[in-house]
Amino acid sequence: MALGVAALPFTFVVHVLGLAAVVLVLVWNLYFRGGLAWDSENKALIFNLHPVLMLIGLIVIGGEAIVSYKSLPLKKEVKKLIHLTLHAIALVLGIVGICAAFKNHNESGIANLYSLHSWLGIGVISLYGVQFIFGFVTFFYPGGSPAIRRDTLPWHVLLGLFIYILAIGTASLGFLEKLTFLESSGLAKYGSEALLVNFTAIITILFGTFVVLSAISEARAATEDEYTAI
Ligand code: HEM
Repeated sequence: MALGVAALPFTFVVHVLGLAAVVLVLVWNLYFRGGLAWDSENKALIFNLHPVLMLIGLIVIGGEAIVSYKSLPLKKEVKKLIHLTLHAIALVLGIVGICAAFKNHNESGIANLYSLHSWLGIGVISLYGVQFIFGFVTFFYPGGSPAIRRDTLPWHVLLGLFIYILAIGTASLGFLEKLTFLESSGLAKYGSEALLVNFTAIITILFGTFVVLSAISEARAATEDEYTAI
């Protein structure tokens, strides 16, 4: 599965948009929302960890993990190690980010798991975990036979991209939901914070788009064996 265009320009755009997304979500939560805390009397600071860790972890580091096969001029074995390490970091940050949302709800007396965003979020993190375990066992340790690797690789790529697109959709719903809560409590609809949140969501969607474009484009000429299963 490959577009007939080179991935490298797309991976460059991925790095730029990823950096922009990280800066925007940090400015939002550190400057506009008052900062981050795991333990605090101000429960909103605990919540703020949620968008920061989900965006930097699952979305940006997860996206960089996906494009690492296309963006790095390294040997396939090294890229495989980088791919799985970045995904492991993304998964751990995603789990901690979701724990922060639950912690905020539990300590503030808010119900859990009532929204479409939260239901899709549980689906995304569960699928991400299952995809990671299957990928690890099949392609890294102990590793399947050459035939199993060859046959499962297209599924690994397809399901990986599906889960990633679902994660981008879930994050977008999260931005929408949080901004709607804030606007219902009086935040100016065309104020700078509202614009910042909407732009962060748009950058997130563009980032995801270029991650997918990179993944389905041609690898560098010298390392054309990226998606071979062995
Ligand atoms: C792919 C990334 C994300 C996943 C997997 C995810 C997952 C979740 C989950 C499972 C909950 C439920 C917590 C509970 O019920 O106690 C939740 C809550 C919440 N999340 Fe996210 N989230 C993501 C990104 C975001 C982002 C970027 C925002 C932006 C602010 C956000 C905003 C919210 C809000 C406002 C809640 C509380 C209301 C609710 O439960 O729907 N989320 N998220």
